[in-house]
Formats: sequence, structure tokens, C-alpha cells
Amino acid sequence: MNRIKNTGLILLTALLAGCSGEETMSELTDRVFDIAERQYTMMDTRLKDDTMPRSMDSEGNFIDSNLRWWCSGFFPGSLWYIYEYTGNEHIRALAEKNTEKLDVLKIKGTDHDLGFQMNCSFGNAYRITGDERYAEPIRTSAEVLAKRFSPVTGVIKSWDFVNKGRDWKYPVIIDNMMNLEHLYNAGIIFGLDTLKTIALTHANTTMANHFRPDYTSWHLVDYDPETGKVRSKETVQGFSDSSAWARGQAWALYGYTMMFRMSGYDCYLSQAENIADMLLERLPEDGIPYWDFDSDRIPDDYRDASAAAIMASAFIELSTLSNSPKKTAYLETAEKQIRALASDEYLANPGENCNFILKHSVGSLPGNSEVDVPLTYADYYFLEALLRYSRLPE
Ligand code: GLY
Repeated sequence: MNRIKNTGLILLTALLAGCSGEETMSELTDRVFDIAERQYTMMDTRLKDDTMPRSMDSEGNFIDSNLRWWCSGFFPGSLWYIYEYTGNEHIRALAEKNTEKLDVLKIKGTDHDLGFQMNCSFGNAYRITGDERYAEPIRTSAEVLAKRFSPVTGVIKSWDFVNKGRDWKYPVIIDNMMNLEHLYNAGIIFGLDTLKTIALTHANTTMANHFRPDYTSWHLVDYDPETGKVRSKETVQGFSDSSAWARGQAWALYGYTMMFRMSGYDCYLSQAENIADMLLERLPEDGIPYWDFDSDRIPDDYRDASAAAIMASAFIELSTLSNSPKKTAYLETAEKQIRALASDEYLANPGENCNFILKHSVGSLPGNSEVDVPLTYADYYFLEALLRYSRLPE
């Protein structure tokens, strides 16, 4: 009798799920990778040997970048993710070609972005294929990046330039946490403990100086290179010096989650959980943040799909590493963000959006640059989030 009742209940539940018509995450992931495969195959035909995709202007024209632009690693990295999910050998050939284009960058010591550029391209290439030809550029670029570290400040210098009206001596932005994955990874692959120590020291100094008591992060901290003292805390891409610029919070969440995965040190897990808990309190209902959590135009302001994609990927990883009672909420938030990004509002149809995958990101609103447009890093972290979700245990 009970069995009959239970069978009836199961059938009813299945029927209701079918009637609700909600796409499963596995169906959603197939759908997005199908679009990504088509968009990025077309995207490659727009490029030359020395260019990468960057964005789209307000008239809908494609904008490319040179290889030195900080985002040049995201297109090859996304191609590697598409290959990983689909096994499409043509995509693999495009990933190889676009990764090799970046070999010239490995000695670029002029800013911190070398980590982003080489880890997304060569780092993924080596992880996926194990091909030794990708190893040397990883080692060379990590050693070049490490030269930007100073034991006096305890951090890697982000930029060598000084913006108009500023007085920086040794500027470090929260985004820089992301470059540590390249250093730490190279430290593991080549047995170079110095690279790991630099990554740990940068993460510790940033934890001490970049965060407010509520676990929001300043965008930029400037250091005195002679004494290591903090000179100022400010913003460049955020609404104000005291605001929480959305992508900065995303880099922070991702950075400390990644540092815990890499090193196993609990202090990074606690930091990531504290940042995550702050975000759970502050994210809008659909999980897609406004470009700055403290903008004075909310709710009539731009959303930033890139920040949502970075957060989603980090929330998924954190949910697998954390023992916090909130770990389920981390995963639910990521799923909500992914479902919003995979909706018509954010996801492009094949042939549209200059062949980028996502719409509606914000590069720098104060700089009036890349506002409400597609950006390669939104695409990259969205695909990464989907891959990570697809690998969760049942
Ligand atoms: N790393 C630059 C940015 O997030 O806009």
C-alpha cells in the first residue's frame, strides 16, 4: 500500500516538474555551450595574428585589442573551456592557435595583468593537454611577474602609470589577487617555492589592508615603496572611494577562494566566506549586481554581467570547499546567477552581439569606457562557472 502511494507521489512529482517546464542545469549548460561554440568559431574569423576580441561600441561595431591589452588571455581561455565541454577538435585548433599568439607576452613585465593573460591561455592549455610546449611560457611569465613583488610592501605592484590627478607611488588593486593563481600554479609545476611565498605574502598583505570591517574591498591601495606603509585607499573604477565596486568584490571572492584551494590555509577560506556572506546580503533578487553596490542611481543603474559571472564561478568553488552552514546558499546563489545570465536578457543569440556570448557588462563607468557592453572576461567566467557546475557531485 505504502509502495503504491509512494510510486504515485513520485509520478506526481515528475509530472509537476515536467509541467513547470524549468530547464535543468544540464540542459541549460548544453544550450549555452552550443551558442558559445558557434559564436567563438565566428569570432575567430574577425581576428588577425596580433589581435584579440575586446568589446562592441554603442553602434554595434566590433572592437578588437592588441595582444598587450589585459584581457588578451580570455578568448583563448574560453576556447579551451568550450573544447573541454564539447570535445570539438576544430575549437581545440582555435584554442591552440590563439594561445600561441600570446607567447610574445611572456616577458612583458610592465603590469600585473600577465597572470590573467598567461594563466587563462597557457595555464588552461597545459592543464587540459599536458603538452610540455606550454610549460616554458608559464615558467618564464611567472618569473617575470614575480619581479614586480617587493619584500618592503609585501605586494606585487599593479601599475607603473599614474592617472591624471592621482599621486600613486606603488598602486595595488584588488584585481591583482587573480594573478596569484598563475604564480602559485607555476610554483607547484616547477617546484619554485619562492613563487608560492610571493603569492601567499601578497594575499596576506591584501587581506590586512584592502578590506573594510564589513568585508567589502577598496579598489586601490597605494603603498610607500620605501617603508611599505599604506599611503591611500581609493577607487578608480568604482562609484566612490568608500563604495563597493561590484567587480572588485567579485575578484576578492574568487581570489581568496582560489588561494584556499591552492594553499589549504584556513585564513583564506574564512576570508572568502566572509566576503561571500556580505554578498549574499547585498546582491539583488536575481543575483546580478549593479556595477557598484553603492551607486546612487540604483535601481535605475547598469548591471554588470561580468561581476555576476566571476561571482558565480567563485561561489560554486566555495560551496565545494566550505563547511559553513551557508554553503548551500552559495551554490543556490550561483545557480540563480547562471540562470539569469542564460536568459534572453543577458545571453546573445548566435550571430548577434558581435559574436560575444554575454551582453550587459560594465568596464569602467567613471572612465566612460565599456559601459553596458559585451566583455571577454564575462564570457570566460560564465563558461568556467558552467563547467564547474557540471562537475559537481550528483
Ligand atoms: N582588472 C580590470 C577590471 O576588472 O576592470
